[in-house]
Amino acid sequence: MKQIIVAIDGWSSCGKSTLAKQMAKVLGYIYVDSGAMYRAITLYFLRNHIDWTEKKEVKEALKDIELDFRTNDQNGTIEIYLNDENVEYLIRDLIVAEKVSEVAAVKAVREFAVAQQQKLGKKKGIVMDGRDIGTVVFPKAELKLFMTADNAVRVERRFKELVEKNPNITIEEVAENIQMRDYIDSNREVSPLRQAKDAIVIDNTNLTQEEQLKKALKLVKNIS
Ligand code: C5P
Repeated sequence: MKQIIVAIDGWSSCGKSTLAKQMAKVLGYIYVDSGAMYRAITLYFLRNHIDWTEKKEVKEALKDIELDFRTNDQNGTIEIYLNDENVEYLIRDLIVAEKVSEVAAVKAVREFAVAQQQKLGKKKGIVMDGRDIGTVVFPKAELKLFMTADNAVRVERRFKELVEKNPNITIEEVAENIQMRDYIDSNREVSPLRQAKDAIVIDNTNLTQEEQLKKALKLVKNIS
């Protein structure tokens, strides 16, 4: 089978990364969580009190940021490193989630992240999930998926995930965050979240993880 690029986009908390990880595993492809890059940049900005509305400040700060993905030897998962520090866990915090869409709307930040994402996809054999993968990062990707699910289902799934780490979190906070991110992501000037014309929609409201994986792998088989 020839190696292809699989681009997965969609709304927040639609299970994009779950599907992307599983597909990469079965296909023996690299998995890249592009959202983790925007989250790690946001963490750096918050820690260093960078004002992301100031162009010059952002430009300077980005020079000090090095991101890379490494495999966790214990469980085989891919984790993101910010300047050699494993921040995979920290970037999932609501403090980061509350600001990430503002940071991700900054042009220089997107240029910085997109250049690295495109480099990672040079050899193909990659599954990447995000908001602009099929439209901007890999407009020629062989397979583009656009994921969606009912709002209530998405909130419930993300709440279950976050409450394990933070028992004080409320379902309202989670719902508000998802709604806010979707709004900013789809209304920003630079690379707004859009369904690529040639993307195939997967609504996983009523699908199990196994069912959605099966569906996606069938699509890969048809083209590779
Ligand atoms: O995928 P995840 O929910 O972790 O992404 C966090 C945020 O990063 C999104 O809400 C969005 O603002 C931003 N993002 C983006 N473009 C991508 C991936 C993520 O703007 N390709």
